[in-house]
Amino acid sequence: MKSKTEEILSNSKNILIGSEAIRNRIRELAQTISQDYCGKIPVFIGVLNGSFLFFADLIRELTIDCEVDFVKISSYGNSTKSSGKIKILKGLDCDIRGRDVIVVEDIIDSGLSVNFLRKWIGEHKPGSLRFVSLLIKEGAAEVSYECEYVGFRIPNKFVVGYGLDYAQLYRNLPGIYIMNSVPEHSEKKER
Ligand code: IMP
Ligand code: MG
Repeated sequence: MKSKTEEILSNSKNILIGSEAIRNRIRELAQTISQDYCGKIPVFIGVLNGSFLFFADLIRELTIDCEVDFVKISSYGNSTKSSGKIKILKGLDCDIRGRDVIVVEDIIDSGLSVNFLRKWIGEHKPGSLRFVSLLIKEGAAEVSYECEYVGFRIPNKFVVGYGLDYAQLYRNLPGIYIMNSVPEHSEKKER
């Protein structure tokens, strides 16, 4: 019997962004960030769990010095739509006061998480604060938000792979895939 991973991999019409396109775009993003932060030592804050692969690949393409930290937030209840109620499951370990901070997200959907993080991290008084997201869903914003660095703008569909999950599965897929049948009510979803 095929695993769910094999099922998605074997259906080529599910693929939205392949691993090589991801690698190339990340290299470009890392070059831009390295130029913009030349001579500085920013702290990259990964938003767990979804950003872990993007985070790891992005920082390995940087030519500047950097530090890393991680936060974990959750807002999805029993649904694929954000509940809007965001909880901090893991806070910061390092002191970011006065530091240049870049928050690394996997995907921006409603925009609620980014706005929540901008406010919450901003309260720790960083010297500067920017966001980089691998993906932005076009036409999905429920609130206006800012994201300084964007990998790809994608259609408003539920996607999995390259760190992104559906009910905790599919994070291991090497590319980004469209999930065609997503039941309205799923397992509790964490970022
Ligand atoms: P937002 O607060 O609605 O912008 O939601 C952002 C978070 O929800 C992302 O960081 C993801 O963890 C999760 N998310 C949103 N859309 C998707 C998707 O299509 N697939 C997997 N996770 C998603
Ligand atoms: Mg996320």
